This record gives sequence, C-alpha cells and structure tokens, in this order.
Amino acid sequence: MLDYVKIALALIAFYVFKTYLGYRRAIKSIHDHPGYRSFYYTANRLLRKRIPGVVTGDQTFHYYKYDDFERYGWDILSAVTVAPKVRAAFIVANTITESRTAFRKPVEKYDVLAFFGKNVVITEGEEWKRQRRITTPLFSERNNRFVWEETVRIMEELFDSWGDKKRIVLDDAIDLCISIALHVIAAAGFGHRFSWDTEAVVPPGHQVPFKDALHIVSRDLFFKLMFPEWFLKWAPIKKIRVFSTAFADFQKYMIEMIEDRKREGIEGRSDLFSNLVGAATGDEDGSNKLTFDEVTGNIFIFLFAGWTTAYTLAFALALLALYPDEQEQLYQHIRAALPTGGNPVMFYETLRLFPPVAGLPKVCEADTVLQASNPAGDKLPVFIRKGTRVWISTAALHYHPQHWEDPHAFKPSRFLGNWPREAFMPFSGGLRACLGRRFSELEGIVVLTMLISRYKVEIKEESRFFGETFEQRKKRILSATSFITLTPDRIPLQFVRRS
Ligand code: HEM
Repeated sequence: MLDYVKIALALIAFYVFKTYLGYRRAIKSIHDHPGYRSFYYTANRLLRKRIPGVVTGDQTFHYYKYDDFERYGWDILSAVTVAPKVRAAFIVANTITESRTAFRKPVEKYDVLAFFGKNVVITEGEEWKRQRRITTPLFSERNNRFVWEETVRIMEELFDSWGDKKRIVLDDAIDLCISIALHVIAAAGFGHRFSWDTEAVVPPGHQVPFKDALHIVSRDLFFKLMFPEWFLKWAPIKKIRVFSTAFADFQKYMIEMIEDRKREGIEGRSDLFSNLVGAATGDEDGSNKLTFDEVTGNIFIFLFAGWTTAYTLAFALALLALYPDEQEQLYQHIRAALPTGGNPVMFYETLRLFPPVAGLPKVCEADTVLQASNPAGDKLPVFIRKGTRVWISTAALHYHPQHWEDPHAFKPSRFLGNWPREAFMPFSGGLRACLGRRFSELEGIVVLTMLISRYKVEIKEESRFFGETFEQRKKRILSATSFITLTPDRIPLQFVRRS
C-alpha cells in the first residue's frame, strides 16, 4: 500500500516538475513579455470572476476593456497559463491590420456555429474562399435596398399596432429589439413577412409557426451544444423539449423553402435565402455550388447574426435614455433632416462601447513581430511564434486612450469628421470582415431614426430602484453578459409619444 502512495506521490511530483519546466519555457519563449501569469485562462461565462494567479477571468469584456493594458504598460499583453496545458498566448489592443494576413482563424473554436452545416464563418483556406465567393454577392445593393424598405415597413406596422397610445412601457426592451430583428431577418433574409398583431398559423405538417421556430431556435441554440439529441427530446424541462420540437420543425421549413424556391424560381426575389438557393445550383462543374448542408449552415449563420443587431439596438436605446441631451441632439438632426440624423453615428458609438464580438481569436501562421506601444509613445517589438494563439481584443481597442479621447464617455459626435478607422473593429476587418455590416447598419439607422422621431425614450421607473444615483442606474441598465456575443442583461424602458 505504502508503495502505491510513494508511486502516486512520485508521479505527482514528476507532473508538477514537468509543468513547472514547461511554464518556464513558455515564459522564455515570449521573452517574459508583461501580462497574466495564471493557472487557468478563461473567456467563458462560468468562470467570469478573476482570482489572481488562479483564473484570469472573463477577458472578453468585463474585466479589461483597456484597464489591464494600462496596468501592464503595453497595448499587447501576454497570458501564460498551465491548465489544461501549458500555453502562452497574446492579447492585443493594437491595430495589427498590416500583419493580419499572418493570422488565421482557429475554426476549431467555432464548433458551436456548425450545427446546421459548414458555413462561411467557420471555414478556412480554400473551403472558406469558395464559401465567401458564393455568399458575398448575396449582400448586394439590391439586398441593401430591400433591407431598408422592409425595415421601414416593419417599423410602420409596429407603430400601427401601438395605435395612439401615449406611452409604451417595456419591462425589457431587449425583447422588442429581438422581435424587430427577427421581423427584419425573416423578411430580408427569408422573404417571409410576419405580422405584429395577428397570431401566426401552423401550416400542415408542422408543429410550430415559422415565426416561433425562428425565434426559439436562434434563442436557445446553446441547448444543442450542451445536450445529446435523445436528451433534448425527452428532457424533464419543458423549455428544452420545446426547443427540440422547434429545431426539427425549423429544419423542415428550410427543406420546404429550398424546394419551393427551386420549383418556383427566384426571379424578382431579393432576400438572402432565395439568392443563396440560386447560388447553390452553381456552375456546371460544381465549383460554385453549395451542398444542402452548406445552404442551411449559412442561413443559420445569418439568422444568428441578426441577434447582434438586436443587442446593439437595445444598447443604443439604453444609452439614449440615459443621456437625454444626446437623444435631443439626434432628434433635432432627424427633424432638420441633417445628414447626421440618418448616419450610423449613434450605431457606431454603441458598437464602440459595446462590441457584440468583444474578442477575435486568431492563430499565428508564421513567426511574426508585432510592435507594442505604451502611453509615452515608445515601441517594443513582440516576437510571436508560429502556432501561438492571439486574441484581438476589440473591446480594449475601442477603449484605447491613444485612439479615443475620453474613451468611456458616450459621445456619438466622435464619429463625425475624422475618426480612427483602424481602431474600430466591431465587424472585424480585412479579408474576414463581416459580410452583413451594411445589412445591420441600415437596419440600425432605420429603427433608431423612426423610433426617435416619434417617441422619447426614457428609463422605466421602478420603485425598487428608487433613490439610486446616476452611476448606479447606468451600471444596472448597461450590465451585460459575455457569451459568444455580448448580451445586455435587462433594459427596462418606456417610449413617450412626441407631440
Ligand atoms: C451589429 C451587427 C453585427 C456585428 C457587430 C457583426 C460582427 C461580426 C464579426 C466581428 C465578424 C467576424 C467574426 C470572426 O471572425 O470570428 C463577423 C463575420 C460575419 N458576419 Fe457579422 N456582424 C453583425 C451582423 C451581421 C449580419 C446581420 C449578418 C448577416 C445577415 C452578418 C454576417 C456575417 C458573416 C457571413 C460573417 C463571416 C465573414 C467571413 O468569415 O468571411 N453579420 N460579423
């Protein structure tokens, strides 16, 4: 027995020693560049809290924006961690545009986005090139115009459904923003028009209306990641079973829609789905062809991306309610039909403060040197070995004091005139930049312009928060959770009709 204990202790000692050597080697390999030294590195929802030396905490938004870079002195940080294996990585708040080709997307980190099939977001190399070549033309000027027209229609119908009510009180404005975004993606993405006030019907052969299937699938997708197929079907929790039914039904809808479009043709249709089905038929030699799984995979990605626009709209409304002077200025610009009234200025400032994708993972493709800088303007070459993981911290870049004056302040006007384009990356950049950027910008402009021209947005007063200071209120209203994308927690608002 004693021998077993001795062997176990010897093995543990060996493991600790080996890990220690690996840790020293990792530190040496990055020339001991300043940064985190911790047992475990995390950017996940469960281990958000930082425990110095043990867990780095949620890096993507909450902890660091720019603060840690300031603390360590440079706009490139290292992170050396030992579990689950010894690893050295870098986190950059640095405009690495010129060397971006040296970095590839670690697609293995994106499994969660592969449920419906391979798509343009989760592929790399030749496969990505083919996907991108086929999907880029979908986001054409014609589709942009369609997004604009459909969003105007959807907002007009929403106001009709509110009738002449003086005040619309929302316990959580995120629900409204998600509904708007789903209406837009249904129309401009799928060619389906939803109604605000009539009950959706269940077509023969289905169990849920398309509207509900779309909503449930995109909202609860993480169930698919967490549980096996059989559990989803038989889970003791109703919400999970409802998801399972909606998921199966959504796939059925997609199959039917693909068959419909193939049968009826896509002539005169401007929605993404029809164009994607059109593209899927491809060239004779199959080079421009998508498989069924790839069509559904891409459609699912467009659907999922619609939520980022919804969250951005919710943050934008929250900011306007918290800063009535900024709201008044926007209103006056809209009324005077000033170009700034219809610009993405508000949308951009919201995306700067709350980038939905707060960190972009990359892998270094070849040995590279990046230049770190400090507030004094000094430069420091940082050597990055091939295969090293590098996180571009969009959040930190957006709060970088060298690029943005008073970076924590909400100042939409900073986007008028000259602004540092290279330090604004909510849509990523370079070759892998967001394909739906114009789609979401147009949607954002139309929704905000139409809402603010008709209603004043205010925070909903709730007795339980009586007596809170402005800072407490701001913290409560703008609190958010970072998981895949940055999601606001709860935004209680009221819209008061302008006279
Ligand atoms: C506020 C709204 C949005 C934001 C902030 C946003 C942000 C981003 C970011 C950061 C990426 C790069 C992701 C990565 O490399 O890991 C991306 C890629 C992408 N986005 Fe968006 N997005 C938005 C809306 C949309 C919409 C509405 C669509 C489609 C309808 C869309 C379609 C795509 C596609 C297809 C890609 C993949 C491009 C590629 O890898 O080649 N996005 N987006």
